[in-house]
Amino acid sequence: MNIDIKHALPFVSKTELENLLPTLNRLKDQLWNNTGKGNDFLGWKTLPESLYQSDLLSDIKNTAQQIREKADTFVVIGIGGSYLGARAVIEALKHAFSSFGYGEKAPEIIYAGHHLDEDYLAELVEYLENRNYALTIISKSGTTTEPAIAFRILKQHLEKKYGLQEARRRIIAITDKEKGALKKLSNQEGYKTFIVPDDVGGRYSVLTPVGLLPIAVAGFDVDAIIEGALSVQKDVENNALTLSHPVTKYVGIRNLLYQKGRLIEMMINYHPKLQYFTEWWKQLYGESEGKEGKGIFPAGANFTTDLHSMGQYIQDGKRIMFETVLSIEKPNKKMTIPVSDENLDGLNYIANKSISEVNKQAELGTTLAHVDGDVPNIKISIPQLDAYHLGALIYFYEISCAISGYLLDINPFDQPGVEAYKKNMFALLGKPGYEEIRKNLMKNL
Ligand code: PA5
Repeated sequence: MNIDIKHALPFVSKTELENLLPTLNRLKDQLWNNTGKGNDFLGWKTLPESLYQSDLLSDIKNTAQQIREKADTFVVIGIGGSYLGARAVIEALKHAFSSFGYGEKAPEIIYAGHHLDEDYLAELVEYLENRNYALTIISKSGTTTEPAIAFRILKQHLEKKYGLQEARRRIIAITDKEKGALKKLSNQEGYKTFIVPDDVGGRYSVLTPVGLLPIAVAGFDVDAIIEGALSVQKDVENNALTLSHPVTKYVGIRNLLYQKGRLIEMMINYHPKLQYFTEWWKQLYGESEGKEGKGIFPAGANFTTDLHSMGQYIQDGKRIMFETVLSIEKPNKKMTIPVSDENLDGLNYIANKSISEVNKQAELGTTLAHVDGDVPNIKISIPQLDAYHLGALIYFYEISCAISGYLLDINPFDQPGVEAYKKNMFALLGKPGYEEIRKNLMKNL
C-alpha cells in the first residue's frame, strides 16, 4: 500500500506533520500497551496473528464448504458492524453482474436484517420460496431489532420449507459466547455457532467469523485476507511510526486538515466494486470518532459516476472537505476502446487505450482540478483489487482509526449515540420498561 500526500501538502506543512510524529508514536504505544481509552475492546489488534492457520479458520472454511454443498443461496442477516465488513469484501471481489460468489457451487449471497422495510422482507420470502437456501444470523448482542425481526421471519420460513431438523442444520448463528437472546436460542435449537469475541466491537469484527464466514461461503480467499492484514499488523507492531509510514501520513494529515476546519472526509473510489468498502469505512470512522462534539464526518463518493452529481459541489461549494482517494493501480481484466472508421463520436484519439488508462487520467485530472478548487487530497493506492490487499487495507484503516480517535481524545471503541434512536423506537412501539420515555415523547408529538 502506498500513500501519496503531495496534494495535501499545500494545505498542511511537512513541519506540522513532523511535529505530530512523537504524539502519534505515543498514542500507538498506548494502543499497543492497552493503556488508552476503551482498552477492553482491543481484541481486533491481534486477530490476524491469532487467526493465521488457526483451527478457528479451518472451522470457518469447513462450515462454508458444507453450506456451499447444501445451498444455492446464502442469506446473511445482520446490521452495522455485523454485516458491512462481509458485504464490503464480497462486493469488491465478486463478478459485477452476478450475485453469486466465486468457484464451483458458489451460492448467491443475499443480505437481510439491515433495515426495516416490509416490502423487502416480503419479496425476500417470495424469492426464497424457490431457492435452496441456508442462512447466518449475526448479532453480537443478540438483541438488535432489525436482524431479530428478519431472523424470526426466515426461521419460520425455513422450518416450514424443510422441517425443524433440517432447518436447524441450515442456520449458523454468530453471537456472544454466553449473553443474549440469540445465544440462548442457539443452545436450545442446537445451531452451529461461532463466537464474536468479547473484546472486539461490531465495526472492528470483519476479521472474525462475522466477516470471514460469509466471505468464505462466497468462495473468496480468507487465508489471503488474513495474510494481508497480518503484514500490516506486524509492521505496526514491530516498528515505530516514521514520517513516511502510511499510518503517519493518513492519520497525521487527516487530523491536521481537521484542525484547519476540514470537517468532512470524502472517501473517493473510481471503481463501483468499492462502494460497500466505502460504506464499511464510513461506519468504522463515523461510529468511532463522532462523539463529544468532535470528529471528521465520513462521506463517500463513487467517481466518475458522482462527478456528474456531486462534482459541482466538491469543485466549487463550501470549502469544508478533503478527499481521500482509494486508488487501484491495475485492473484485473482487460478491455480496450475499439477503433471506429467513421469516428462519429470523436473517440478515435483514445482508440486502443485501455479503459483503465482513461480512468487513471480521469482520476488525475479530477485530483488536480479539486486541489485547484481548494480541496486537499490524500491518495491511498493498492496494486490490485484482491483478497490480500483488501485484508491489508482493513487492518490499516482499523489501526489508523484507533490512533485518530486517541488523537481526538475520545474512546474510539464505544457508540453511546447509537442507543438514542433505539430507546425512542422501543418506547413508541410499547416495549415493556419504556413507559416513562413514551410518556415524555408523546408530550412532544
Ligand atoms: O459497530 C457496532 O457496534 C454496531 O454497528 C453493531 O455492529 C450493530 O449495531 C449490530 O449490533 P449487534 O451485532 O449486536 O446486532
